[in-house]
Amino acid sequence: IDDLLADGVSGRRVFVRADLNVPLDGTTITDDGRIRAVAPTIARLAEAGARVIVASHLGRPKGAPDPAFSLAPAAARLGEVLGAPVAFATDTVGDSAKAVTAALGDGAVAVLENLRFNPGETSKDDAERGAFADELAALADVYVGDGFGAVHRKHASVYDLPARLPHAAGDLIVTEVGVLKQLTEDVARPYAVVLGGAKVSDKLGVIDNLLGKADRILIGGGMAYTFLKAQGHEVGISLLQEDQVPVVQEYLKRAEEQGVEFVLPVDVLVAPEFPDLKTKAPANPTTVAADAIPADQEGLDIGPETRKLYAEKLADAATVFWNGPMGVFEHPDYAEGTRAVARALVDSPAFSVVGGGDSAAAVRTLGFDENAFGHISTGGGASLEYLEGKTLPGLAALED
Ligand code: 3PG
Repeated sequence: IDDLLADGVSGRRVFVRADLNVPLDGTTITDDGRIRAVAPTIARLAEAGARVIVASHLGRPKGAPDPAFSLAPAAARLGEVLGAPVAFATDTVGDSAKAVTAALGDGAVAVLENLRFNPGETSKDDAERGAFADELAALADVYVGDGFGAVHRKHASVYDLPARLPHAAGDLIVTEVGVLKQLTEDVARPYAVVLGGAKVSDKLGVIDNLLGKADRILIGGGMAYTFLKAQGHEVGISLLQEDQVPVVQEYLKRAEEQGVEFVLPVDVLVAPEFPDLKTKAPANPTTVAADAIPADQEGLDIGPETRKLYAEKLADAATVFWNGPMGVFEHPDYAEGTRAVARALVDSPAFSVVGGGDSAAAVRTLGFDENAFGHISTGGGASLEYLEGKTLPGLAALED
């Protein structure tokens, strides 16, 4: 983007592929981190006189307009963050998009409606994606990729569109990639990784890759129960991916051979049922040893001994990567595990990277100052796939 700005963008139509996929409660944005993260790129382009066209996906609509997934609230919030009016097109490449983008003056900003209202955006068919990319390309002169959270998607606006326009990487992508490089090249040791969240299957690739790189891997969240099962413990009615048990057993064996320490919960908070996240009615959990979960109980957070243990394991780390909450943090009775990991990172001198929509939102909704962490990534799947060593379509397209 520095080169692009040096060339001059005044009067040019610049398409910014952002990731404005923010969590919504109705039309209320519950975490605007992704909007604030991409705003500086948009502001720089606007200040330089570009006619800025911002596009993004939101959620996973089914390839057709669906008001529940409208980007209108995100566009309004972007206007507040920029402190400038932001126009909104009620479609992506139709009459509204054409009229709104044609009416943009130099330095003005417009947001298009959700890219995923169009089947071509996510199509597996190259020709269908390409046709949609052609329609997007007709709206602009230049492309800036800055939707880091979506760079792992081979979608029209991420992968096919940059091939059709002169293109550059925005400031957010440059920052995110710079940070992730620090976790893959010449990483400062000890290097600890904390993984949580519901599904172990989402994390297999990253564990596989980290086995040769991390010194310590701490496991929490719903995925911990598959690990406990792999160690031969019963997990009651906790989340379990039975089919992944042999894979996890193999990882535990490899970790031992390679001198990587796997740290699993020693105690957990259990209850007979999942808590009510709407009413947040008291859940009255009990604490049990991780190897003694009763048959009719579900593990919903790491317990107090585990919180202490994880804080100790993070205290002397020089680098920490954290993805995924330790429990059902949305309910106050199950937030302490996630809070303890966040607190440990804030208190530690380690360079800490928080990756993933959920963990980033958790850190903010639990009231932590985001500046107390080394970096809070806007990418969940994107940062995991980067750490898996995969080629990310949206980055490859910009490097080309
Ligand atoms: C995310 O939230 O990780 C990104 O916005 C990508 O969204 P997706 O998983 O629906 O492609």
